Amino acid sequence: MTSVVILTGAGVSADSGLATFRDAGGLWEGHHVEDVATPEAWARDPSLVWRFYQMRRAQLGEVEPNAAHHALARLETELVAAGSSFTLISQNVDDLHQRAGSNVIAMHGQLARLRCTVCAAGMHDVEHVEPEQFLACSACGHSPLRPDIVWFGEIPLHMDLIERAILNVEKFVAIGTSGAVYPAAAFLQVARAAGAETWVNSLEEPENLDPRDRFLAGRAVDVIPAQVDRWLAEWIG
Ligand code: APR
Repeated sequence: MTSVVILTGAGVSADSGLATFRDAGGLWEGHHVEDVATPEAWARDPSLVWRFYQMRRAQLGEVEPNAAHHALARLETELVAAGSSFTLISQNVDDLHQRAGSNVIAMHGQLARLRCTVCAAGMHDVEHVEPEQFLACSACGHSPLRPDIVWFGEIPLHMDLIERAILNVEKFVAIGTSGAVYPAAAFLQVARAAGAETWVNSLEEPENLDPRDRFLAGRAVDVIPAQVDRWLAEWIG
């Protein structure tokens, strides 16, 4: 039985047509993304923040999971069927892994959900394209519901589950992430320190790459499907 953890970032969805923040120069309508994706921005100008996420949510209706998302779903199905442990952690807030059939720990939240900050009823699923106006909580009436997104300065979700998976990992793979945003950027090093074999797929070498990592250069759609075949052959036999 093998214990496998995959971490994905914006690069895995780039091949579906969703631009990474850093590719776009980190700007949206002249605002630095870091100035829009914060609790302070939501408190200061919720309409601006709402428009930003509404636009990103609308994009979800125009894109489909790509061959890398599908290959990772296949990896999960076959490893789990063989009795291995498999954890997919994504920093992406799109729903492309989910639509490909993966079980995902969405550590930075999800565009397709809204959160009530007042009552325990909490989560609200929303369509890809939603009304212009803010939405109110169907349980307590509080308005506005906020995007279920982990903003800059907030603590990522499900860190207990993630830590447990990474401390026991034997095979760790990072795909399409710049290794610049913590805590996710540290997972590679923690996995290495736990004795795991490590792989990294990206267009260029990320900041947190180490000579012990096997670097797989290229687009995730070109690299991951064939690599999944190799991993399955090696890990299951
Ligand atoms: N295939 C593989 N890798 C790719 C591809 C592709 N087609 N296109 C781009 N990449 C790589 C880039 O080389 C880069 O290393 O994906 C990485 C994307 O980096 P970022 O844009 O920094 O995305 P990510 O690491 O997911 O960002 C982390 O920061 O912006 C915040 O909260 C946001 O979740 C996000 C977090």
